[in-house]
Amino acid sequence: MPSDIAALPVSTPPQVAPTLVPVVDPMHFEASADTYAEARPPYPAELWQRLRTLGLLRPGSRALDLGAGTGQATGPLLGAGLHVTAIEPGPRLAGLLHAAHPAADVRLCRAEDMQFAASSFDLVVAATSIHWMNLDILLPNLYTILNSNGRFAVWRNVFGDPDAEPTPFRARITEIVDARRAPPRPGPPAEDLDATIEALTASGLFRVTDASTYRWTLELDAAAIGRLFRTFSDWSAGEVEQAVAAVNELGGIVTEHYSSWLVVLAPSEQPPVP
Ligand SMILES: C[S@@+](CC[C@H](N)C(=O)[O-])C[C@H]1O[C@@H](n2cnc3c(N)ncnc32)[C@H](O)[C@@H]1O
Repeated sequence: MPSDIAALPVSTPPQVAPTLVPVVDPMHFEASADTYAEARPPYPAELWQRLRTLGLLRPGSRALDLGAGTGQATGPLLGAGLHVTAIEPGPRLAGLLHAAHPAADVRLCRAEDMQFAASSFDLVVAATSIHWMNLDILLPNLYTILNSNGRFAVWRNVFGDPDAEPTPFRARITEIVDARRAPPRPGPPAEDLDATIEALTASGLFRVTDASTYRWTLELDAAAIGRLFRTFSDWSAGEVEQAVAAVNELGGIVTEHYSSWLVVLAPSEQPPVP
């Protein structure tokens, strides 16, 4: 763990179940903190271009990155000239984030526990992280701390594009997942854009202003598949080994079709009276 982690403000560890998808372990990512940045592919350039086109990457704007991990969103936001406050409850991840992006104001806490003054931010982002948060707690606070002209941008990578041509490797992945003894997780899938929009707008505090999806392809070898799948919170170590073995049996390199979606929300002008 980086030595300057002690300097970060500390809050209580996560205990509340998220609203969008119940749960594996929100601290799962701590175990793969050291390899997380290398394991997870960056978000597609088209997604960042969409944010730019929408005028959300204005230099000098104040951004809040929820569930920042090691900085897959923090880095490009800083690179675009925004001031970034990053919320991350995992101590190892927060330490790595702070070390990699010293310009960011890193806060070691859950998004549900953060405290900021009204209108503190022009942009709030959640990159592949909103499904870990309790929206009943988060959204009323976000409504207050986001500037009334600000935007809330939620996006995620979907590792396995359901609309892409099936591949032999994906067939093996389906077999591994289907063999799980545990019953399927209840609730709407976190990968689903429509379910996410429904969850984010149900309170009436936010309305959608833009939604888009991006499709992309990667060639991955067995080591890269191992690194990536170890970061997936619903994959056991044994299942990851099966996925790695499948890559080797299929010639050592597999083509993966992934997608990313982005939804941008604005605070409602007339929120429902509580
Ligand atoms: C899949 S990772 C995404 C990290 C990063 N945003 C990215 O794009 O790669 C999910 C992150 O959410 C964090 N997280 C989990 N529960 C959280 C909560 N209640 N509040 C804020 N972050 C949370 C995890 O520690 C982890 O860093």
